[in-house]
Amino acid sequence: VHKGNGVKGLVDTGLEIVPEPYIQPLEERLDPTKFQPENTIPIIDISNWDDPKVVDSICDAASKWGFFQIVNHGVPLVVLENLKNAAHSFFQLPSEERKKYLKKNSPSEAVCLGTSFSPQAEKILEWKDFLRLYWVSEDQASAYWPPVCKEQVLEYVKKVELVTKRLLEVLLKRLGVEEIDKTTEIKLMASPILSLNYYPCCPSPELTAGVGRHSDISTITIFLQDETGGLYMRGTSEDSWIHVPPVTGALVINIGDVLQIMSNDKYKSIEHRAIANRSKNRVSIPFFVSPGSDATIGPLPEVLASGETPIYKHVVYSDYIKHFISKGHDGKKTVEFAK
Ligand code: SIN
Ligand code: FE2
Repeated sequence: VHKGNGVKGLVDTGLEIVPEPYIQPLEERLDPTKFQPENTIPIIDISNWDDPKVVDSICDAASKWGFFQIVNHGVPLVVLENLKNAAHSFFQLPSEERKKYLKKNSPSEAVCLGTSFSPQAEKILEWKDFLRLYWVSEDQASAYWPPVCKEQVLEYVKKVELVTKRLLEVLLKRLGVEEIDKTTEIKLMASPILSLNYYPCCPSPELTAGVGRHSDISTITIFLQDETGGLYMRGTSEDSWIHVPPVTGALVINIGDVLQIMSNDKYKSIEHRAIANRSKNRVSIPFFVSPGSDATIGPLPEVLASGETPIYKHVVYSDYIKHFISKGHDGKKTVEFAK
């Protein structure tokens, strides 16, 4: 296993079979006989936020599906294309250049290159490398993010942040929160992280997991995927999976555990997974919006106001993160930690 070089380094050696450390046990392989039709996930045109129908569609999708796609969101197509190209450019750098961003070499906490998910905690490694960019300030970003992608990421982050705020306003308003004050803001979105995920083409993707089963621990994730496909969400019938199809210009919205907990299960954080492709290097780019690490999260008072029983207790978010990282991807289990 070429640790510092990641999966990309491994593939560059010209391998024709999947090395043992990446071969998943049968029960963790995606079973194509368990697929549900993919045309079921809502695609919502959000060009008019003032239209009550748009607001209803967003809130309904967040409660029923936990996953939906948005189009006409105001982030120009060219910004999305530039961002995906920038991700390819980073991973096509010579390995010596990439390695400068490994945690042990990285010039700053604003950037970190990694592979798999939590290699120390995992029995089987995932077929994925990633470059994680922490959105602290524009100065930090300019100083430390890799030159080959930083402008494209900055341009995207500035635009996608506006969409994210709008979505959260709409979703919280439906829960009875009229205005997002400072405390609520810290609980919702103190520390955005953008990840450039890279799934090098894989000789036998069906034996591997690009990303194993999990639900996001974020408040909400805004997700850009390329045209390759490979993201699956938990379906409605037993053990079934629904492909989240690539839609040109769309962003995938995925409600995270924090919003499920804060809404006392009104909004759903859905289990999902991803798989690499045999002939194409797949890129996906989640923008994770999460609470500050010392924020305490729990059901919102507005949600419980009518006497509803809280399903979750209050937990400090850094403990929640630690719990998530201490285990490999093992399904939608992290929320249990808050029960
Ligand atoms: C993830 O959920 O962590 C990534 C999913 C994907 O790349 O499709
Ligand atoms: Fe995820």
